[in-house]
Amino acid sequence: MGLVTTKELLSSCSRDWAVGAFNINNLDDIQAVINAGEELQSPVILQVSEGVAKHIGVELVAAICCTAGNIASIPVAVHLDHCHSASLAIQCMRHGFTSVMIDGSSLPFEENVALTKQVVEVARLFGASVEGELGRVGGTEDDLVVDDASLTVPEEAARFVELTGIDVLAPSIGTLHGTYKAKPHLDFERLQTISERVPVPLALHGGSGLTEEQFKECIRHGIAKINIGTDIKKVQIAATRHYLENNPNKAEPRPLSKTIQVAVSETVKEKIRLFGSMDKAMIWGFDASKARGS
Ligand code: 13P
Ligand code: ZN
Repeated sequence: MGLVTTKELLSSCSRDWAVGAFNINNLDDIQAVINAGEELQSPVILQVSEGVAKHIGVELVAAICCTAGNIASIPVAVHLDHCHSASLAIQCMRHGFTSVMIDGSSLPFEENVALTKQVVEVARLFGASVEGELGRVGGTEDDLVVDDASLTVPEEAARFVELTGIDVLAPSIGTLHGTYKAKPHLDFERLQTISERVPVPLALHGGSGLTEEQFKECIRHGIAKINIGTDIKKVQIAATRHYLENNPNKAEPRPLSKTIQVAVSETVKEKIRLFGSMDKAMIWGFDASKARGS
């Protein structure tokens, strides 16, 4: 029974490691993320965007992700990413998501508070965790395009958390969604101040393309959840292209699927090592010797 909430996962991080939240697009990604976590005995978050929830269907993606989490030999949270409507967030929790992000960051402060608070109140009934965003992370993620990025103001962050009761805060500290066109400047001083004023764990968005040093500094300054989306998409497409170019006459889909899983899993393992979460599954009483297949 590996399914847990994001709040449970992040409560143990204490500034020397973080949990990876990996955006999945399909079953190959789901299996790749779980396999990587099991191999390194690391907790993982299966992260589902609004676009993916709509593409696969909430009931089906929830059933697949929650079952994958339940049979895993590691702790797994199933999280809805950048959701813009309370009704979709509630629907996802009703179907088993253990965690949702309600993204009211494009709204004026009071409206963001009202929307986020509404989702938190319902989440308490389901025992699910809620992530909120204040300030705006720029760039492109799925259907979400933000060209008016703004950094989080620490005092506002403290008020936002107090008024909404969220379990996780996504601050904007200089990262961007998608591919970086220039070296990002991360505002660690701002991050440190936010983490001192806010009593909940912090989530880093726009994790693809950051360096080991940047991840380490972010973790040291209070980041406990790191989102990775673009790197997974890129490796999936590259593996598909490479396989098809090298096997133009193969008509069996499963070897292609296996190739994708292995490639995505390698990328996820790389991130898990950078985030320092390997062998942390045992914190929740998970025993590697009882892992499936061992
Ligand atoms: P990247 O796609 O830049 O890794 O960002 C992921 C993310 O923040 C998902 O919410
Ligand atoms: Zn994001």
